[in-house]
Amino acid sequence: MAFDELRSLVATLEADIASGPIVPLVTPQEIRSYLASRYDFTKPQTLDDVCADVERMLRTWQVQVTHPRYFGLFNPSVTLASIIAETLVAMYNPQLATWRTSPAANEIERHTLAWLMGKFGLPADAIGCFTSGGAEANLSAVVVALTRAFPDYGEHGLRGLPASPAIYATGEAHHSFNKIAHMTGLGRRAIRTVATDRDLKMDLGDLARRVAEDREAGFAPLMVVGTAGTTGAGAIDPLPELARFCRSQGLWFHVDAAWGGAAIISPLLRDHLAGIDAADSITCDAHKWFSVPMAAGMFFCRHPDAVGEAFRAETSYMPGKTAGPVRDPYTTSVQWSRRFIGLKLFLALAQHGESGYVEMIEHQARMGDVLRESVKRSGWRVVNTTPLPVICFTRDGLDTAKFLAALYQRQIAWMSEVRLGNGAPVLRACVTSFRTTEADIEWVVREMDHLT
Ligand SMILES: Cc1ncc(COP(=O)(O)O)c(C=O)c1O
Repeated sequence: MAFDELRSLVATLEADIASGPIVPLVTPQEIRSYLASRYDFTKPQTLDDVCADVERMLRTWQVQVTHPRYFGLFNPSVTLASIIAETLVAMYNPQLATWRTSPAANEIERHTLAWLMGKFGLPADAIGCFTSGGAEANLSAVVVALTRAFPDYGEHGLRGLPASPAIYATGEAHHSFNKIAHMTGLGRRAIRTVATDRDLKMDLGDLARRVAEDREAGFAPLMVVGTAGTTGAGAIDPLPELARFCRSQGLWFHVDAAWGGAAIISPLLRDHLAGIDAADSITCDAHKWFSVPMAAGMFFCRHPDAVGEAFRAETSYMPGKTAGPVRDPYTTSVQWSRRFIGLKLFLALAQHGESGYVEMIEHQARMGDVLRESVKRSGWRVVNTTPLPVICFTRDGLDTAKFLAALYQRQIAWMSEVRLGNGAPVLRACVTSFRTTEADIEWVVREMDHLT
């Protein structure tokens, strides 16, 4: 099958997006009035007209996250292969709840996950699954950890536990854990905020002290979350030390590598993730640094039996169990009906090869270095330390909100603000596009100088 038309449409859109505005200036009322005036759904419209209209809305009323000057929240530019994959998936609409319904799709996912699992150094019998994103993968980790630590949890819930479980993470860890603590019934107070050092990495002394105090007070320490690439500043917690500590204390070691995990395939960057091979579970998102469209997270766990127990399901209306070395995904993950999430990573990997992916990832890391050096040369103060391409920076007396408003108004770039630790807001710029060039960066930094 030839995809020439799609290929040329994508190329046109890419060029249009790159030469157009990045930040929309629109109110909710403007969009609502427009929709109400054109779409009361009483009369059919031609598909061509509606598609053209929707495309115009997306072009005009959206932060263009695939723009080379979008320095944002891990939302990537996407490869042609991954766009084609989305089309194929929609076309065939495979149902991956059971193996028997979609053997090809299930095996393509398994094959792709096994490749990455090998990179992380997990054992061959570890289990992986595609998720809607990092939040679902983190949720999976907590549910499996609870199930393994407390055999009664599945049947009797938290009420049946002898003590209240606690989860340890820094204030820089992703806030999905607060929601997860809420949703699982642990309660948000089950999250213990461990102190960080000046590089925003978890402070091991504080972790040990908190775990000891909790045991003393009758709590049940459950899990330590080490983040490999924090959302705000790209900090990587000391994974080898956390792994050793967790082993010595009988705690579940989860590594949230939602963004930074892709660095594992880069010979230049992978040492920064040393220790991840000792994790009980790992979160890594394909829809971040692997540059595929939204809704592609991954959850990995070295305890397949605990995963099977946590998500066990039996009902007569599902096709019967498949014989042989396969597990039906609805019995090993949060979702039931599930789309073929993994094709976009498989197709892009197969087209670019591992070396192509390494080049994309290392290019972005290099562009991060260019941006870091460029803002420093312009007199900004960089306030985070990371080998990953996210730069947090400020200047004396900077009003970040005002600065960003001017940046958006002039369509220079999209960046955000963040508070690291308990500090004042600073600017945050992350290279998330494999299309960002040195020239883009130098231009943006020069234009920023005119705003201050
Ligand atoms: C470190 C980290 N973990 C988890 C998540 C949540 O991922 P998702 O938005 O894919 O659910 C994010 C999102 O940015 C993240 O940065």
